[in-house]
Parts: sequence; C-alpha cells; structure tokens
Amino acid sequence: MCGIVGFIGKEQAAPILLDGLSRLEYRGYDSAGLAVYDAEKGLQVVKAKGRLQVLRDLTREGQEVPGLMGVGHTRWATHGAPNDVNSHPQVSQSGRMAVVHNGIIENYAKLKKFLESKGVQFVSETDTEVVAQLLDYYYKGDLLDAVSKVLHRIQGAYALGIVCADEPDKLVAVRKDSPLILGLGQGFTMLASDVTALIRYTREVCYLDDGEMAVLTPDGVKVYNALVQPVEKETSHVDWEISAAEKGGYEHFMFKEIMEQPKAIRDTISPRLRDGKVVLDDVTITKEDLEDLDRLYVIACGSSYHVGMAAKYILERLLRIPVEVTLASEFRYCAPIVTKHTLALVISQSGETIDTLAAMREAKRLGARILSIVNVVGSTIARESDDVLYTWAGPEIAVATTKAYSTQLAVIYLLGLYFADRLGRVTAEEYSRLVEELRTLPAKAEAILKDTEKIQYYASIYFNHNSVFYIGRNIDYAVGLEGSLKLKEISYIHSEAYAAGELKHGTISLIEDGTLVVALAGWNELFEKLMSNVKEVKARGADVIGIACENHKEALESLVDSAMTIPEVDPMFLPSLEVIPMQLFAYYVALMRGCDIDKPRNLAKSVTVE
Ligand code: F6R
Repeated sequence: MCGIVGFIGKEQAAPILLDGLSRLEYRGYDSAGLAVYDAEKGLQVVKAKGRLQVLRDLTREGQEVPGLMGVGHTRWATHGAPNDVNSHPQVSQSGRMAVVHNGIIENYAKLKKFLESKGVQFVSETDTEVVAQLLDYYYKGDLLDAVSKVLHRIQGAYALGIVCADEPDKLVAVRKDSPLILGLGQGFTMLASDVTALIRYTREVCYLDDGEMAVLTPDGVKVYNALVQPVEKETSHVDWEISAAEKGGYEHFMFKEIMEQPKAIRDTISPRLRDGKVVLDDVTITKEDLEDLDRLYVIACGSSYHVGMAAKYILERLLRIPVEVTLASEFRYCAPIVTKHTLALVISQSGETIDTLAAMREAKRLGARILSIVNVVGSTIARESDDVLYTWAGPEIAVATTKAYSTQLAVIYLLGLYFADRLGRVTAEEYSRLVEELRTLPAKAEAILKDTEKIQYYASIYFNHNSVFYIGRNIDYAVGLEGSLKLKEISYIHSEAYAAGELKHGTISLIEDGTLVVALAGWNELFEKLMSNVKEVKARGADVIGIACENHKEALESLVDSAMTIPEVDPMFLPSLEVIPMQLFAYYVALMRGCDIDKPRNLAKSVTVE
C-alpha cells in the first residue's frame, strides 16, 4: 500500500509526479505529498491529508513547486494517523533529506530511541521519519554511503525514494519486499511503485531486486548491491497501453473493468489454445513431475483466494489430486504439509501482496515447486516463481478486482485441462468438449454484459438492505464468497457467504423478515437442493435473489423474488459467468448508496503490509 514516484530530468518534475500519483492513488488515499528540489528555492515539501486533489490544489497542479527532480507519495496510513504531519515525504531535522516510503520499518521504535539519544527531534509518528533522520545522521557528504549504512540498520519491508538537498544531481531508490520499478527515458529517469505511473513517459523499465540500491540521474540508472558493488541489470519493455489505465469515458474504473472481462478472458485463453488443445509453453513441469505430485496447495488472499476455492473443485475433479486452499496470511502458521512433490499454485493480481509472497517463500523453503498466476509482469511473485502463467488482464485500477479475478479463473481452467490431458485423466471426448466450452466462454460473458438493466433494477430494490447472505453449494459456494466480498467492500453492507446446506446449522437464526439472500443455483445437478434451501429462508421472511442457468428460468422465477439467469455451461466454468451479475449487483448497489466505488474506505490495492 502507499504509492511512491520519483522523477529526475530536464522537465518540471511536479506535474509528472502528480500525474504518476494519480495513477497510484488506488494504493492508498489517506494523504499525498511531494518533495521537489530547485536550485534557487532548495528542497520544497508540500503534503496534505486527503485525496490527491487537495495536493493538486495546494500546488496549483504542481506549478508552485518548480524543479527538475523530486519524489511523490500517496499514503495508506500504517504508523500514525492520516494527517498533514504524518504524510510523506518525511524530512530530516536539518531539512537535507526527504524520503517517501512504501512498507513498514519494523525496528523503527528502537532506532528512534537511538536517534533521540543523539539529540534528534522527531515531529511525526511515522516509521518513515526514522529513515530520513538516520540518513542525515550517517550523511558525511556521500549519499550512497549513507543509504547503505541505513540499509544495514533498518528491518522490515520498504521501497524508498530519497532526495538529498546536498546532492541534487541524483535520486536514490532502494527496495526490500515492497515493489519498485525504474523507468528509463530519453534525458530522464523515474521510479515508481507500479508501472502504471511510468508508461505515459517510458516503456523501458528495470526491476530492482531485494536489497539493491539505484542512483537515478537524467542520463540513466546505476544499480548497486548492499555492499555498494555495481550490479548489471536487464531492461524490459512494457506492452501495456496507457489507455488501459484510463477510464475511457466510463464513470468508474470498476465498471470499465467489469465490461472488459470478455476481452480479458479471450486475451488470456486465445494464445494458449491451438488446434483444439491447451498449450502452455510457459510451464516447465514435466509429465513425470505431474505424476509424482502428492498435492497442490493454492496460496492467495482475498478474491485471488476465492479463485483458489473454485480451483479446488475444478482441479480435484479433473486431476484427482488433493488440492488444499490456504489463505496466504495463515500458511506460515499452519504447519503446512509440503514435500518436494508438492506444487504450490500462487495466485496474485499484483504479484506483490506481502502475505502471499511470504507464504510462497515458505512453501519454496519447504521444498514445493512454485507455479504462480500473476497479472503484473515482472512483479516479485512472478520473478521468484519456478513457472509463471500471466493473466493478460491489463492494468486493473479499481481497488475491487473484477477482470483479474476472471482471468485468474481462466488460467485455472487452462491449467486443469492441460494437466488432466498430460496425466491422461480425461477422455479425448471430454477434453475436446471442455476446450470448446472454454473457447466460447468470452462470448457467453459478453451476452450477460449486454443486459445490465435487470440487475440495475434489482439493485434499486435492495440497496437499502443491511445484511445479505450469499448461499450456494460446491462451486456456486465459491462464487458466493466472491459475490459477498464484492458487495461488502464497495457498498459497506454486511454480507456473508455460506455453503447453503450449512445455513441450518446455526446461521439461519439470523434470517428474518426482509433479510436479503442471494441464492446461487448455477450447478444444474444441485438446483433442486438449492431451491429447498431457498424455501427454508423464504419461510423465515427472506427476500431472495436467485441465479441459475437458462434451462431453470421458469422454475427459478416461480421460487424467488428476483431471478437472474446465465447461459448454460459445464459446471466447471460457472464461476466466470455467475460472478458477472454479482459484480454488477455490487456495483449498482454501491452507486445507489453514493459510495466511492473505485476507492472504498480503508482499502488499498496491492497490500504490501502484513
Ligand atoms: C478484492 C481484492 C482483494 C485482492 C487481494 C489479493 O476485490 O481485490 O481481496 O484480491 O488483496 O491481491 P492480489 O491478487 O494482488 O494478491
């Protein structure tokens, strides 16, 4: 969380930094700030609580802060309340050092005590101020030397952008366990938490590894290891289009991204389907490796974890190999049974979620082979995996994920079919039928998106409800988990997902007149069973929205208050279609409640703190 950006070149830095921050604002929006150096005015620091617009207004779109180099920050508060003083950049007592930081300095309290004993006075409650003060403490005329000394003393996760007023010809960037990318342009260089802040200016990037330091000048970047020895870095070209990170006429990124799902699914599967076969050139796992697998562990957080829940049903059905789905934040503490025959499937849109990264490293340490499903190319999880399957969703900006979730599912289908085929666990006929269904999935998703009016109407009936239950069985339950999360995170309505059969073992006591229940009955085989659960909740006063395949339209309409249908598909593909009405319902409810859809309260995309 938190976004950092830096620029050094021959143009005014502040407008570029503000533009970069506008693309990083999804990472945190409690406050924002800039530090820009100018030969005449020296180091100017402007920062303020609130959205980026406050900073834009304060600096008159950056015009009041002249200078050709600087750093910027958008904050998701961890240490210290979101106020002006705790905003970044944090500046050292002498005013020489300005630092922007994404991450947490775990031993900041001890370092603060040490510095206070040397007479340093602190003004903020942040862990970041310790870095600025410590840099100043160690500074003896050589910024890189001071940075390397500081790196030996700080513990935790950090991506730092550093400006030193005594060395205004350079910016310094360092990282450990928090994302940081360098952008290389003609006559300028940049740093940023995420590629979206750079692509308007350059597509040539370089990824810093943990513990590395970079010195940025207008002419290029020099990278050093922790011992200050030069390191050769490769540059990569980024293909993402700038338009993909803009709203393009839509009111919200979330709606745009919901609408982009058919294309995103198509982009993810098409290059990997050839002559009726799934071809995963990017996976190096051999048939023998697959035959030796004792289990699959899915490791992920949030919506990516929900993809894992669906994956369990899909992969166990296709492969007949046990699949354990673990929340990344729990993985390290549950004594996971991992052997060298275990495959860890790590799912992450950002590729930077710290819980997922830490769990992945632990799985690796225990001997597992790592196959990750990641959206952001070159992200840490992608780089540390044995194999990566990218979800070609393009940049996802809205905090609530939609198209990344859908493309992660698409990769699970591909992987399941590919492994099942290699293991000979699926008949040729079944395989061809499933591949064909997968190929037609984007068109089916398109059909659902063509008719949003009914969902909008249902949202207008139910947007005032305070408590919503999502029920389903098997894979429908997995979709319910995602539907429920979408609703609660953007509309702030309390919601829970339950395996429908489990409701009567306790939770049904919460159902009363007017409670809203969303019943997912996509799996035809279990339709009747789910309708029994619908009758149980209706008998206790619930209003029910039902969702099922078109062949059950009439039966559904006779049993629920509000019915939605989706095209018929093999149950394994249900999540991709069922989730769309769930996303749209959450979106319209949040819209009607006047919520800030793209930036829900207390949340940030890319969670880089544990
Ligand atoms: C919810 C959402 C989050 C993320 C979670 C994991 O809409 O987006 O729950 O799914 O924070 O993020 P990644 O996939 O980047 O690891």
